[in-house]
Amino acid sequence: MFGKLEKNLRPVLFYGNNPLSLIGGALTSASAFVLIGFWVVSVFGRGGSTNPYLGIVFDLFLPGLFILGLILIPIGIGLRHSHLKAAGQLPAVYPQIDLQDPVFRRGIEVVIAATFINFVIVGTATYRGVSYMDSPNFCGQSCHVMAPQWAAYQVSPHSHVACVECHIGSGISAAVEAKVNGTKQLLEVTFGTYPHPIEAPLSALRPARATCEQCHMPTRFVGDKLLVLTKFGDDQKNSITRSVVVLHLGGVDSLSHLSGIHGHHLDDYEYVATDPSDQTIISVSKRNADGSVTQYVSSDWKGPVKGVVRRMDCMDCHNQATHVFQTPEQALDEVMVDGTPSANLPFVHKQGMQLIQAKYSSQADAAAKITSGLQDYYKTQYPDVWNGQHDTVENAARMLVTIYDRNVFPSMKVAWGTYPDNIGHMDYPGCFRCHDGNHVAKGGKVLTNDCSVCHNLLNVDDPNPKVLTELGMQ
Ligand code: HEC
Ligand code: HEC
Ligand code: HEC
Ligand code: HEC
Ligand code: HEC
Repeated sequence: MFGKLEKNLRPVLFYGNNPLSLIGGALTSASAFVLIGFWVVSVFGRGGSTNPYLGIVFDLFLPGLFILGLILIPIGIGLRHSHLKAAGQLPAVYPQIDLQDPVFRRGIEVVIAATFINFVIVGTATYRGVSYMDSPNFCGQSCHVMAPQWAAYQVSPHSHVACVECHIGSGISAAVEAKVNGTKQLLEVTFGTYPHPIEAPLSALRPARATCEQCHMPTRFVGDKLLVLTKFGDDQKNSITRSVVVLHLGGVDSLSHLSGIHGHHLDDYEYVATDPSDQTIISVSKRNADGSVTQYVSSDWKGPVKGVVRRMDCMDCHNQATHVFQTPEQALDEVMVDGTPSANLPFVHKQGMQLIQAKYSSQADAAAKITSGLQDYYKTQYPDVWNGQHDTVENAARMLVTIYDRNVFPSMKVAWGTYPDNIGHMDYPGCFRCHDGNHVAKGGKVLTNDCSVCHNLLNVDDPNPKVLTELGMQ
């Protein structure tokens, strides 16, 4: 039995003793070792990476090397065979398999050494690739599709939280789902069929319990929070007005009372929306202490309430905690509070708003036209300003371009307002998706729309709020 096998193996080993086949064998065995090693780690280990693009390494790159090695072996054998045949050197009898034979031993030594070297190289490359794929740089920058989210992420308070923390869960099913998604996205990017703009139903994210609540105590009592909102006017002096809002954030106080905005939504609320970004909410239910359920249904909705039920969590309000896309007003007011564009430039707010809101074909087009637009305005309308405050105008133009680039991405069809912000209710439906005074329970109870439940408005658009002077804030 062994004799026969040995006889059949002889020509294979004889012809296989060539550089190409030996390298092929080494590649195959090295990639097999790395694959097996990572499988063992991911099945028995903990805290392994769950990046969706790992699929590229484990499902494409390593198996690719494995197969490449397998293909190289017969090619080498074939080449050596035809080479010897052409030279008329085909042996009549194939040499015996003999570990004492120096030629045969050399071959085995080469395979072992090459396997080891390949193992180190492939293993290191894989390890480094995996670490890189877990970094925000990979997620945000390796793919132009992510440009809007990357730009918004960098200026957010969470710019040190890795993308995978919020976007990919742990456990086998999350990892498999992420890999399937990653591969699908890769194909979509390759063929340009991904959605413009990218969509993000909250249901695709990890639950807040596994993300936000790892760092923020949901029960922390915040109490009231003072908001001072500054706006600049469209008049020549860019006049400042302020709104002073005391937000009743609440939380859980020392007596375990739930109060305010945070406290109330820690209860078990479930809602049904009719669109993927949850902007139109037709019903929300609250589970009461006695086990009964109060369901508030929008009076605009005539049909039966059905659809995907989502349990409300932090991200239903804080959907922009990380990817902050502003309105043009917010973006310009914010940088003007910091001093650039300078409010000393006449009509700079009005001009700035017009320039950043105009339609451009690309960010480069916008940069050129916003800059020349502002320059031309001062050159023609205010030559004194243009001559005397040249740098101030240039800085203003540069800042307008910066805020445009942070918020608008023509290549991804991301315009002002593409991504709604659910905090508040002035620019987007936000809280009023439910608290619009139009969501009513069976007994006629209306989900509150009372301004003072959420905040006290001390001043609205006031040029000189007295309360700020009293607080020493002006
Ligand atoms: C602290 C949590 C958190 C981190 C960190 C985070 N994201 Fe997000 N991401 C979110 C939330 C929440 C949404 C849903 C936004 C919405 O529905 O409006 C989202 C949505 C997205 C979307 C869909 C488009 C959108 O804005 O709705 C993309 C793409 C995205 N994130 C990419 C990234 C990338 C790339 C990184 C790292 C550079 C990252 N995210 C880091 C929480 C996070
Ligand atoms: C890894 C820890 C971490 C995670 C996870 C995290 N945060 Fe934060 N978050 C922080 C830190 C740190 C700050 C404070 C940053 C600062 O003060 O500049 C912060 C700030 C905030 C703020 C205040 C923002 C502001 O403009 O002042 C909000 C709101 C917030 N986080 C909500 C969330 C939500 C919602 C999630 C889940 C999607 C989340 N965070 C996940 C660490 C985290
Ligand atoms: C019903 C909507 C809503 C929900 C749900 C919600 N928040 Fe908030 N949260 C707010 C509002 C409104 C603010 C104040 C926003 C502002 O400062 O402009 C806020 C502020 C915050 C702040 C900043 C507090 C400070 O001292 O400035 C943090 C941190 C925060 N939320 C974390 C969370 C976390 C974590 C969760 C989930 C357990 C959560 N929020 C759930 C509405 C909500
Ligand atoms: C998905 C629907 C939904 C959204 C969105 C929502 N809420 Fe609520 N909210 C509720 C429900 C349901 C209740 C509980 C009503 C009850 O007690 O019967 C509630 C209760 C409250 C209460 C307590 C009301 C009271 O009578 O004391 C406050 C305050 C509040 N919400 C503020 C906010 C703020 C601020 C936002 C936006 C940042 C917001 N809510 C967004 C559904 C929502
Ligand atoms: C369900 C809670 C809720 C109710 C009800 C509510 N608001 Fe608000 N409102 C908010 C929140 C939250 C903010 C803060 C948004 C932010 O953080 O910028 C806000 C902010 C504001 C602001 C300042 C925003 C700005 O950009 O100037 C005004 C003005 C305002 N609300 C007016 C009202 C009035 C008037 C009513 C009554 C008809 C009302 N709100 C009812 C939650 C509510």
